[in-house]
Amino acid sequence: MKHIWITGGSGFIGSNLVLRLQEEFPEASLTVLDDFRSGSFPNLEGYRGDFVAADISRLDWDAEFRGRRPDAIFHLASITDTTLQDQKIQTHDNVEGFRRLLDYLRPEKTPIVYASSAATYGIRAGVNRIGDPLAPANAYAFSKVQLENLARKIREEEPSWKIAGLRYFNVYGPREGHKGVPASMAWHLAGQMLLGKRPRIFKNGEQKRDFVYVKDIVSMTVAAMKSGKTGVWNAGSGQPRSFNEMVEGLNGVLGTKFKPEYFPCPYPFYQPHTEADMSATQRDLGIRPKYSLEDGLRDYFESGWLTRGRPKAKTRKK
Ligand SMILES: NC(=O)c1ccc[n+]([C@@H]2O[C@H](COP(=O)([O-])OP(=O)(O)OC[C@H]3O[C@@H](n4cnc5c(N)ncnc54)[C@H](O)[C@@H]3O)[C@@H](O)[C@H]2O)c1
Repeated sequence: MKHIWITGGSGFIGSNLVLRLQEEFPEASLTVLDDFRSGSFPNLEGYRGDFVAADISRLDWDAEFRGRRPDAIFHLASITDTTLQDQKIQTHDNVEGFRRLLDYLRPEKTPIVYASSAATYGIRAGVNRIGDPLAPANAYAFSKVQLENLARKIREEEPSWKIAGLRYFNVYGPREGHKGVPASMAWHLAGQMLLGKRPRIFKNGEQKRDFVYVKDIVSMTVAAMKSGKTGVWNAGSGQPRSFNEMVEGLNGVLGTKFKPEYFPCPYPFYQPHTEADMSATQRDLGIRPKYSLEDGLRDYFESGWLTRGRPKAKTRKK
């Protein structure tokens, strides 16, 4: 991989991926494509590659790159605010970005790994397996299903083209603070605790999520490219953990002893459990997540990014 492009490379997962690729492939030339709508340049501290600041859903790819194509592309650019209800914007920007990229790459069938989402499964509780019916519950999830549909259509037309989709689950880790509300539960609860406040979670805290550390997500994303395989795989930890356990884990790394403050869930239906079945990912991509929730939170804290930019705590209750 001499020339690698990464869309969405100034975002949370994208910047972690870019910095890993720079380390793992020091000879490669990297190009990030991002319009900063939810990304942030400080995420790319230490990055030595090129940057194209453009909205990829409106970019004229031929005019911009004039036939220049990479050896591999990681496509992570997406609107990531799942609460944005505007169906046209979610679907236009997320789907047309991918369609234009596919159109531009078609002549050389450049291998692609793209980010899909566990949101495609919808709100049904339980273990999410590849092959389960998809039931997007919001416009964001709908747009991700469209990405998968586009990739499937291309696979039928161009069977030799390597296109791998990964359904990321609940990712947390360094370089996510810029996301604001859509940042992970780890980020938000740690923020409350660092202010000396009890972490607020929905009653009774036993809801479970497949929390997955961003370093594992990056490893799975790179493994999907190296595998040269085509298809869709889950990218989670495979270990659902409760909101109460998240608070305990944060207490462990922050040196606090906060009890959660429970409040009633305002939603008529709230997904009680998400869990990635990781068997196909392990079998086909030859990789398994390494980080437990506790190990991930420890690494996150030690990176400095969990506390970076936070107001200084006045009191830290023990
Ligand atoms: N973080 C998670 O838990 C999670 C879960 C499931 C799927 N994903 C997917 O992973 C990918 C990365 O998400 P993230 O958490 O890093 O979010 P993020 O918001 O930090 O990153 C998305 C990046 O894409 C850029 N972008 C968006 N639309 C663009 C466009 N049209 N043109 C150019 N750049 C554009 C943004 O500026 C941002 O830098 C996304 O595709 C997201 O849907 C993330």
